[in-house]
Amino acid sequence: MRKNRVGLIGFPTEHSLSPVMHNAAFEALGMSDWLYDAMSIPPDILRYGVQEPKNHGYIGINVTVPHKEAMMELVRPDEIARAIGAVNTVDFRNNSGTNTDADGIVDDLRANGVPIANKRVLVLGAGGAARAVVYGLARERARVAIVNRTKIRAERLVADLKSAAGIDGIAVMTLDEAADWGMSLIINCTSVGLHPHVDQSPWIHGVPFPAGVTVYDTVYRPANTALMQQCIAHGGRAIGGLGMLARQGALSFEIWTGVAPPVDVMLGAAQAALENTGKV
Ligand code: ATR
Repeated sequence: MRKNRVGLIGFPTEHSLSPVMHNAAFEALGMSDWLYDAMSIPPDILRYGVQEPKNHGYIGINVTVPHKEAMMELVRPDEIARAIGAVNTVDFRNNSGTNTDADGIVDDLRANGVPIANKRVLVLGAGGAARAVVYGLARERARVAIVNRTKIRAERLVADLKSAAGIDGIAVMTLDEAADWGMSLIINCTSVGLHPHVDQSPWIHGVPFPAGVTVYDTVYRPANTALMQQCIAHGGRAIGGLGMLARQGALSFEIWTGVAPPVDVMLGAAQAALENTGKV
C-alpha cells in the first residue's frame, strides 16, 4: 500500500501528462511509497469532490482547468495565488494553495538562456495561463505588453494585477502596434494552434512578423506549432511549452515531498508520453 498520495483534479483529466511526469520522478528517486493519480471532478460538485482526496489522506493535489479559479475559495491562497487569481497546487497538510505556473515559465526561460529582466516581452492572450505568465514576468522586471482578441479581458488582467499585487506599467496593445514595439520575446498564452487546429497561429495573417525575436509557445501539442514555424522562418528562435509544464510540476513536487525534483526526468517522461500519443 502506497502511503503518500498526491494527484490532479480537473475536468477532464484523461490527457494530462502530470501522472506520468510525477510517477517517473518518484521512480527515479526510489520513492516507491509515493503515487500520483488523476481525478475528473465535474465543476458543479467541486466543493464536495475536492474533499475526496483530502479524506483519503492525500498530501496534496494539482488543480487544472476548469477548477483553478474556484479553488481560491476552497483553500487558503498564498500571495502568488492571490495575485494570479488561481490555484494550481494544494497542500492539504495546511489547506494552503499556491500557483507554480509563474515560477514554471520563469524557470524555463532561465533554463533556456532567455533574458527577461528589463526586456520587452509581448504576451498573447489574457486567460488563466496569461495571468500567471504576466505576473511571473512582471516580478522579474520585464517590460510587458499584452495583446488579446478580447481587449477588455486584457485590461481586466492589468487592473487585477495592479490591485492584487501592486504591479504597474503593463500595456495593452493591438497586434499591429505590437509588431512595431521592438520586443525581444513573444509568449503565446492563447490556445490558438493547439491540436487539432495545428495550422492556426495567434499571429494573424497580414501583420508583419517581427524578425529575429524569440517565441515561447505555452502550447505543447504539437511540439512545433504554426507560430513557432513562423518565428523560425523569420530568423527567430522558438521554444515549445513542455518545459514550463515540467517545471511547474517540479515545483509542486518539491512542495509536497520536500525533495529536490528531477526536472530532466519529468521533462523526458512528459516528452515520451506525448510522442506515444502521436500528437507531437
Ligand atoms: P487558459 O486558462 O488556458 O489561458 P482561457 O482562460 O480560456 O484558457 O484563455 C484562452 C485564451 O486564448 C484567451 O486569451 C482567448 O482570447 P479571448 O479572451 O478573446 O477569448 C484566447 N483565444 C482562444 N481562442 C482564440 C482564437 N480563435 N483567436 C484568438 N484568441 C483566442
